[in-house]
Amino acid sequence: MAFRKDFLWGGACAANQFEGAWNVDGKGISVPDLCTNGTKRNPKCITTEIRENRFYPSHEAIDFYHHYKEDIALFAEMGFRVFRTSINWTRIYPTGMEEEPNEKGLVFYENVFKECKKYGIEPLVTLSHYEMPYALVEKYNGWADRNVIALFEKYCYTVFDRYQNLVKYWLTFNEINGGVTPLGTTLSLSTVRGYEGPVADAPVSPQVRFEALHHQLLASAKVVAYAHEHYPQFQMGDMNVFLTAYPLTCDPEDVLAAQKHNHVINWFCSDVQIRGEYPSYMKRYFKEQGICLEISEEEKEILKRGTVDFYTCSYYMSSCITTHEGEATVEGNLAGGAKNPYLQASDWGWQIDPDGLRYSLNEIYERYRIPIMVVENGLGARDEKAEDGQIHDSYRIDYLRRHIEAMYEATEDGVDLMGYTPWGCIDLVSASTGEMAKRYGFIYVNKFDDGTGDLSREKKDSFDWYKNVIATNGQCL
Ligand code: BG6
Repeated sequence: MAFRKDFLWGGACAANQFEGAWNVDGKGISVPDLCTNGTKRNPKCITTEIRENRFYPSHEAIDFYHHYKEDIALFAEMGFRVFRTSINWTRIYPTGMEEEPNEKGLVFYENVFKECKKYGIEPLVTLSHYEMPYALVEKYNGWADRNVIALFEKYCYTVFDRYQNLVKYWLTFNEINGGVTPLGTTLSLSTVRGYEGPVADAPVSPQVRFEALHHQLLASAKVVAYAHEHYPQFQMGDMNVFLTAYPLTCDPEDVLAAQKHNHVINWFCSDVQIRGEYPSYMKRYFKEQGICLEISEEEKEILKRGTVDFYTCSYYMSSCITTHEGEATVEGNLAGGAKNPYLQASDWGWQIDPDGLRYSLNEIYERYRIPIMVVENGLGARDEKAEDGQIHDSYRIDYLRRHIEAMYEATEDGVDLMGYTPWGCIDLVSASTGEMAKRYGFIYVNKFDDGTGDLSREKKDSFDWYKNVIATNGQCL
């Protein structure tokens, strides 16, 4: 069992969930800086300003900002060939509206990418991972306003220019299709002007949500087309959360409901970003939802010109869709669904389904026929130190092993898989709950939900296991 020789093994993180240093070196306030911590039962909230009595986990996070050399050295020790991270827009343009970029922010990422290169690690950079300047929420209601497109372009062109010799692989918006769901709306479209409360409950009408998403799709297409024109060495990718959904029963009504669900959740955005136009099935959905999108001929042209080179997704779980009443529902970070009686779930209720990954990769590849990278996957779990002071995370190894086996089977099915970057390769703040307790890493960080912890790093059992997986190109699992 072996993956292709140049398979990009690595790990993934996001600026707002691990950098900390939220107001250091000229950085502006971004949306996650106003998001509090929470738990599965006590929802993470957004506030309109920093409140004295609330805890904001992004402010320090795991302080990658001051630990990046140590962390990248550990990634290199595991043998990473790629490291997926994101740039925080507010380090480069603190409010998004400045004329000139913040040099100190540019220097920070330059140092990070140079440090990766020192070890032969290829950076894979997400331009927007669940953050935008909060000033743009106040002024424009986030992505609801098309003026944000030009500001995003300015930011992207600045970082393309600066890092053109350091970064080859770029992703535009993290989990862009999450914008279709209530939680994703806040995290990604940020249409939350004046709103305080649970991030999953921000009141956004379907009309505003899809207009905002349209603006993101246009912005993505514009920067992809620009990159292709100016930097032919770049490889531009999309990024989707793939929420595999099966019909719960063979009742044709369930099959149709699952198809509709998959169209809107899993295929709509990537169809636009890869095929270059709105898919026909969305017409009916928009009509049923009372959504009216005015898409000009010029915009249609933009979408056509800005299609991506490779497809990427996160994959954590699957669920079932049914029209039958009374079925138990699952918990998930972005979309729910009915429980699958054949699957077990994580402590956070995410149904574990490695076969679903193989199935999904086949579906994706048959549809698009372009290279695919799984840029997030992993098990969020509570890691407890054993008596010997170590973390024996066999449950994580088991999860990852089964998903790597499934990826391998997909490659045998003919899928062109170019890489794998498990999520949170070092422990970081959870996006859905704002917790540290939900850990994904190969590297444990001594940081806890009450804000305590000395930020020291320790290897879990999965560290050496993954190192060996990479060294044997996936043969030794
Ligand atoms: C993806 C996001 O949805 O899942 C990440 O791109 C996120 O930002 C990851 O952290 C895991 O989700 P959570 O809620 O467990 O952090």
